Parts: sequence; C-alpha cells; structure tokens
Amino acid sequence: MFFFIIGSATIAFIVFRILEEIYKCLQPFPNIQAKYGKDCWAVVTGASDGIGKGYCQVLAQQNVNICMLVRNEEKAKKLIEELSKGSTSKFKIVVVDFNNSLEEGFFDRVYKQIENLDIGLLINNVGVSHTRPLEKYNDNELREMITVNCFPIVFLTKKIIPKMLQRTKSAIINLSSFAGRVPLPYHQTYAATKAFDDFFSRSIALEYTNIDIMAHRPMYVTTAMTNFKKGQGAISPIQSAKGALQRLGLEYSTHGHILHRIQGFFGAVVVPSFLRNKLVKKELKKLVRKYL
Ligand SMILES: NC(=O)c1ccc[n+]([C@@H]2O[C@H](COP(=O)([O-])OP(=O)(O)OC[C@H]3O[C@@H](n4cnc5c(N)ncnc54)[C@H](OP(=O)(O)O)[C@@H]3O)[C@@H](O)[C@H]2O)c1
Repeated sequence: MFFFIIGSATIAFIVFRILEEIYKCLQPFPNIQAKYGKDCWAVVTGASDGIGKGYCQVLAQQNVNICMLVRNEEKAKKLIEELSKGSTSKFKIVVVDFNNSLEEGFFDRVYKQIENLDIGLLINNVGVSHTRPLEKYNDNELREMITVNCFPIVFLTKKIIPKMLQRTKSAIINLSSFAGRVPLPYHQTYAATKAFDDFFSRSIALEYTNIDIMAHRPMYVTTAMTNFKKGQGAISPIQSAKGALQRLGLEYSTHGHILHRIQGFFGAVVVPSFLRNKLVKKELKKLVRKYL
C-alpha cells in the first residue's frame, strides 16, 4: 500500500509538471504594451550587444520605447539607427560604465537620467565573464565580474521598484545563466555571480508579487562573450530574448527558449551530478589549457 501511494503520487507529480510545461509553452507571445502599459519604456542594461541587443530588437518590433544603459555610445547610436527602420519606438541612451558601480552616488546619478520615464520593464542584462583557474586571474578581472554582474541588478532594481509599485503592472528580467544552476570549474566566480543573480531575482519575486520578476538563465547563446556558434547547439540572442519574454509572468526563473529548457532539464536534473561534473570539467579544461 505504501509503495502504491508513493508511486501514484510520483506519477501524478510528473504528469502535473508535464501538463504545466505544455500549458506554459502554449501561451501566446505577450504584447508588451498591452501587458505593461501603452507607451511604457523598457530600460535595458548592456543593450549595445549580445542578448541585451536581442531584447532591444524584439521590443522594437513591438514599438516599445527603449532606454539603453551602455558604455559605448557610438555602438548604441548605430543600433538605434538599425532599429528605427522598422519601428516607431522612441530611444534614449544613457552612457554608463557599470564597472564604476562601487562609486558613492553612482546609481543616484544613473537614476536621475531615467526617473522621468514611465518604466514598465527593466532588463538587468549587463554581464561579463572570464574563465581561468582561480589563481590565474588578475584581481581586476575578478573585481569586474563581481561588480558588473551583481551590483547593477541590486541597485537599479532598488531605485526603480518604488515607481513600478505605483503602476498597474510592471516587469523585471534579471540575466542569470545555466552557470548559476550548477557549479562550473574554471568559471567559478562567474557561476557564483549568476547564482547570486538567480537567487536575488527569485527572492524579490516572492517579495513583490504584483511585479512580474523573472531570472533568465540561458545556456549557450551566440554572442561575443562566449563565441559560441549555432552549430555548437547555441541559439541567437533574439531567440534567447524571445524565449524569455514568452515566459514572463509565468515563472520566476527560466531557461527561456525551448532548446535551452531541454538542455537545462537534462544538464541539471537528469544527468547525475558525478557524471555532469566530470563531463563539464573535461569540456571547460579545453578553454583554459594554456593556464594549466
Ligand atoms: N552568451 C551566453 O551564452 C550567455 C549565457 C548565459 C547567460 N548570459 C548572460 O547574459 C548577459 C549578456 O551576455 P552576452 O553574452 O550578451 O554578453 P556580450 O555579448 O559580451 O554583451 C555584453 C553587453 O554588456 C555591455 N557591458 C559589458 N561591460 C559593461 C560595463 N562595465 N558597463 C556597461 N556595459 C557593459 C557590453 O557593452 P559593449 O558593447 O560596450 O561591449 C555589451 O553590450 C550577461 O549577464 C551574461 O552573464 C550569457
């Protein structure tokens, strides 16, 4: 009887999870302005390239106004020129180097430049990554990863949330990574910052239940950060952004795109950790061979 009950409960749980997943996959791609306010603004950090740029491309297709927080103004201007061709979005550039996040008053100065916008969507995307055995980093690389990957997510969110609470509906997407879900040798500090982003995001999602807050945990995306190619099973930044936006409001943490959901499920749940650790170390060792 005991085994029958445990067996039935396990099967019921698995069936429930499959039906839940199918339900979420069938949800239509959201109309951002209908969901988060007509003429609202999306604030995107690290918007000039990679996944941040992918988010801008998808949002511009829906004519959402976009404020880009970038360190390279020229790159952002070029992107705006490109996006303006097929879009009625308004654009704003704020030049900011998040490596200076520790300066006194830094986020006050950034916020001053965006406080008049009706911010419906905040995408904390900016991030940097370096891969080495721990003792081979120079201190600045480590400091940069911890500063750029962790401080903006906390402090920009803190600054913007009070205004979001006055709105009917708003959303925040925080870029974590699959690297924040499982330990990664040679990526130790990056992985730890991404676990920070994921936990911070999921925790405030429980705090502010009237805001759609979600951690986006991509696997491989074809960006300058990783140099992954499509042939290696990576997806494009636009696919990654679309995959996440489709899940917004449906879950607190997501791999987003269906390919990443499948890879994430097998990588983190199905494959036993002793085997995953072995495979991952073998793979990542190739990237750091010159330091070993
Ligand atoms: N690519 C992947 O496979 C992958 C997987 C999982 C998670 N992620 C996460 O996704 C996010 C975006 O990664 P990505 O692959 O798109 O990276 P990316 O292609 O290197 O783009 C990073 C963006 O951040 C900007 N940036 C970097 N440092 C900055 C600083 N100090 N101040 C202001 N802006 C700065 C870059 O500006 P410039 O244009 O001036 O360089 C660029 O626009 C990161 O948080 C990363 O951890 C990526």
